[in-house]
Amino acid sequence: MGIKLLTNNINVAGIQKLDTYQNNGGYDMFKKALSMTPDAIVEEVKKSGLRGRGGAGFPTGMKWSFLAKPEGVPRYLVCNADESEPGTFKDRYMMERIPHLLIEGMAIGSFALGCHTSYIYIRGELMYVYHILQKAIDEAYAAGFLGKNILGSGFDFDLHVHCGAGAYICGEETALIESLEGKRGNPRIKPPFPAIRGLWDCPTVVNNVETLMAVVPIIKLGGDEYAKIGIGKSTGTKLISACGHINKPGIYEIELGIPVEEFIYSDEYCGGIRNGKKLKAVVAGGSSVPVLPAELILKLANGEPRLMSYESLGEGGFATGTMMGSGGFIAMDEDTSIVKNLWTFARFYHHESCGQCSPCREGTGWMEKILHKILDGHGNISDIDLLWDIQSKIEGKTICPLGEAAAWPVASAIRHFRSEFEEYVRNPQNIIEDHHYYRLNNISQESV
Ligand SMILES: Cc1cc2nc3c(=O)[nH]c(=O)nc-3n(C[C@H](O)[C@H](O)[C@H](O)COP(=O)(O)O)c2cc1C
Repeated sequence: MGIKLLTNNINVAGIQKLDTYQNNGGYDMFKKALSMTPDAIVEEVKKSGLRGRGGAGFPTGMKWSFLAKPEGVPRYLVCNADESEPGTFKDRYMMERIPHLLIEGMAIGSFALGCHTSYIYIRGELMYVYHILQKAIDEAYAAGFLGKNILGSGFDFDLHVHCGAGAYICGEETALIESLEGKRGNPRIKPPFPAIRGLWDCPTVVNNVETLMAVVPIIKLGGDEYAKIGIGKSTGTKLISACGHINKPGIYEIELGIPVEEFIYSDEYCGGIRNGKKLKAVVAGGSSVPVLPAELILKLANGEPRLMSYESLGEGGFATGTMMGSGGFIAMDEDTSIVKNLWTFARFYHHESCGQCSPCREGTGWMEKILHKILDGHGNISDIDLLWDIQSKIEGKTICPLGEAAAWPVASAIRHFRSEFEEYVRNPQNIIEDHHYYRLNNISQESV
């Protein structure tokens, strides 16, 4: 049984409630943090090597130390709970099961950063989790863990939870800030970065739910001990939401650095591929990261096992590697159509593009249409090249990385599975089943 830092109490009955959470050591680390200096807390987080769990993997301690501290200007810590990436569903589960862990992590983080007001921005569809969080926040206020002069420390801290309206783009941190300010969730041009000018133009740190939860065990263990868990610059544990054609879909807390093969096939985690089928491909970090065929996700180019770490998953660049992303692990068996899978992703990105940058606004629409045309049996070989061309004209040409998120799945699917696209073009009669599928779903050919 691997080490568990975030999910060790997840199955304790009643852990949602403050008294049970406290009986299991809850808020002890907040008390400990209040006895430390804010700088010492930031130092522990730096030493831990914790990297942001929202997708980009940026070192959290470094992000915290970048926060500007102009005299007389408030600063904010914002928790990004907008989790909407297809394949990623860890934050929702954690907030639902153990909401006080997030509140404790935010209280510690806010004390360390000198924030007296902080926000949890939660995805619109998760209204029921919003209520769970609000209830937990109310309990924390009643017990004196939030509010004025917390536990006699002199630290005043208010925590609010704000529900978005269900837009993936509002997970991008500057779009999130815009939305929190009551505006349309369009990403901002950077610089300035939020650490300098964020919420209401004040210095702001935006962190993922899991990142903030991980601060609690870091205070417990100390940064150095935390850094001994994991491998290299991938320290600690990571929540992986595993889905697709595996025997045991679910959320797993892994020590970073276990072999991908162990994660897929061992009974402790995914339990192998359903119905004894062969693994065909994996999207390892949420829908936006490059898809890899089985042989590349299991092994590196030198034949060594690929590991569940930021470095190992990225090994080989995009030619043979992928990314850890937000830990949304989608396994596909030998019967999966990569083209069809890609089309569902393309539809999503087209729908979720905010429309601010023309390469993304127009390109996502064109990619969806061309994929549909191919799936519908009307594609040409030149359409595959056109798809490649369009994705290459989105990547790096947009204000925010939603452009890359839409382009990378297309590029990787063509790079590794071009023959499958060609098969759809050359032998459309073989795809009659798909044809029915699209008709049944009322997707008209007029849109092609
Ligand atoms: C389109 C888009 C959607 C994103 N959605 C999320 C999200 O739902 N949750 C999240 O934590 N980060 C998301 N991110 C990443 C955030 O912009 C940001 O990097 C993250 O919240 C930083 O927190 P971390 O350093 O703790 O990972 C998204 C980024 C993009 C471009």
